[in-house]
Amino acid sequence: MPNASLVIANWKMNGNKALAKEMVTSLRDNHEQFQAVNVVVCPPFTLISDLTRECYYDDIAVGAQTVSEHESGAYTGEVSTSQLKEAGVSYVLVGHSERRQLFAESDEQINQKVKATLSANLKAVLCVGENKSQRDAGETWDVVSQQVKNALQGIAPESTGKIIVAYEPVWAIGTGETATPEQAQEVHEKLRALVVELFGEIGNKLPLLYGGSVKPGNAKELFSQKDIDGGLIGGASLKTDDFLSICQAAQ
Ligand code: G3P
Repeated sequence: MPNASLVIANWKMNGNKALAKEMVTSLRDNHEQFQAVNVVVCPPFTLISDLTRECYYDDIAVGAQTVSEHESGAYTGEVSTSQLKEAGVSYVLVGHSERRQLFAESDEQINQKVKATLSANLKAVLCVGENKSQRDAGETWDVVSQQVKNALQGIAPESTGKIIVAYEPVWAIGTGETATPEQAQEVHEKLRALVVELFGEIGNKLPLLYGGSVKPGNAKELFSQKDIDGGLIGGASLKTDDFLSICQAAQ
């Protein structure tokens, strides 16, 4: 089991300077309510500097929602790991289902992004999850396990300290249809066994997060599951009070 819980906010293409200031202020003012929880906020690129400035003296980490697998070059619109690092980013979401679906990120590309992230000493939050038709067809574990194996191909066990895996059933993202704690734990238990199989006993320390319509009303029961070490939060992370409640639930 990892030492502490981890809650990550994924703002997606939402938020502004006011929310950045409001969120950090609220997290700072209420920090004693979730001292044992590591909190990361992943805003759009344009708000990273606002967040790093606002939380300079706070132990709130800043993350990016994606990164280029290339070190530099003619990749219009892309951002590199070194540029993220220079901006104060320490976590990177890799392979989010929206990147896979809307931007056609392949398993191979995601594997390259994981390697680039780890090489830059940033923490890689690998996102995996099945869609509704795959779940209905009983293919959940086939899909999720293959995504993990492909994304972590060629990664050494000593890198596991910089890897987080987030299980986000695609059918639960943004739908309000959260996986039940039992459904989530069933996959997380297999994920735990898989990372131990891939990396040895050190895999037991690798944080496994659940994402997909986590809300203040369901967070506590989800996070109380044996192999769920925290959450990756979308919509609820845009509402300061809701995100605060979810961080408290992870305590
Ligand atoms: O990355 C987290 C996100 O995909 C979950 O979104 O709105 O269902 O919490 P949401």
